[in-house]
Amino acid sequence: MNTDIENIEELFAKEIQEVKDLNELEVLKIKYLGRKGLLANTISQLANLPIEEKRKFGPLINKLKAEISALIDEKYKGFRVSSEKSIDLTKPGSKISLGHKHILAQVEETAKKIFLQLNFSVVDGPEIENEYYNFDALNIPPDHPAREMWDTFWLKSNNQKLTDDKKNFLLRTHTSPMQVRYMESHNPPIQIVVPGRVFRYEATDASHEINFYQLEGLMVSKDINLANFKFIIEEFFKRFFKQEIEFRYRPSYFPFVEPGIELDIKIRGSNKWLEVMGAGMVHNRVFEYAHYNPGEFQGFAFGLGLDRLAMIKYKIPDIRLFYSGDLRFIKQF
Ligand code: FA5
Repeated sequence: MNTDIENIEELFAKEIQEVKDLNELEVLKIKYLGRKGLLANTISQLANLPIEEKRKFGPLINKLKAEISALIDEKYKGFRVSSEKSIDLTKPGSKISLGHKHILAQVEETAKKIFLQLNFSVVDGPEIENEYYNFDALNIPPDHPAREMWDTFWLKSNNQKLTDDKKNFLLRTHTSPMQVRYMESHNPPIQIVVPGRVFRYEATDASHEINFYQLEGLMVSKDINLANFKFIIEEFFKRFFKQEIEFRYRPSYFPFVEPGIELDIKIRGSNKWLEVMGAGMVHNRVFEYAHYNPGEFQGFAFGLGLDRLAMIKYKIPDIRLFYSGDLRFIKQF
């Protein structure tokens, strides 16, 4: 029995040195500590021995079992630490998902760039406007039927500090309020564009949203005329679409321009016209609100629908997709 125990001890000492990985260690563990392993076998032999020998070898076997078990555990730990540290250089890298600008932000950026090339400056205006700049100063008094052209989100406020000397607050229905805001503090020559979000309290459909993006343009000097407008806007569209565009100018009515125009465009070859902007020569009443000398200046103004431009450029059938938050749509651009 004594030599059996010594043999097991020696053999284990040798074999544990040769173990190269967790699988081999598992095999070794079963060989020595398993239910039918070497130690279990030795213990079962004890049964046939006289009592004194049982007393002598029993504790020796138990001691050896504890030592073997401790050494195997230690080896386990060693393997686990080294497998955590090891890097598999052949493994393909995990893909990092990067965000990007929304398609409408990209379109706005492109439009701004082109107008900068055409010598316009880019100006920002407030999304929360007051009634004065959104309507009155644009020659749309409270009782004017044209107010119905822009269904409005009015803002209620019980807070005195939030009332304005220029009347009630609202979410701007167009970017045109920046015309008078800008002219109040700047003298001609003026050549600006104002991109931004606008809001309308109206039913949505494939080409109408309750909030969308416009880009206002204003060019004022002593001798600006509609031919200047036509040249600039056609140049803009050619650079924006980089394709042959057809233009359709229609007479229209906006209280803050005279004459007023609406412009539809279509890519040559397609058969769908889409209304993209309102425009016209700045009305004298608007110059009066800006405190310019009557008759001294003239200029044109326009308001482009940026969503509509994006729809034409990228063949998007429904404006509501822009605001759906659907990543399958957004990731395409
Ligand atoms: C205006 O908002 C005028 N402020 C434009 C203007 C500016 C006229 C300066 C004269 C001088 P209108 O409501 O037509 O006009 O809107 C202008 C453009 O915004 C439209 O041609 C269209 O392209 C876009 N648009 C209008 N309503 C919506 C809507 N609900 N959803 C998406 N785009 C819209």
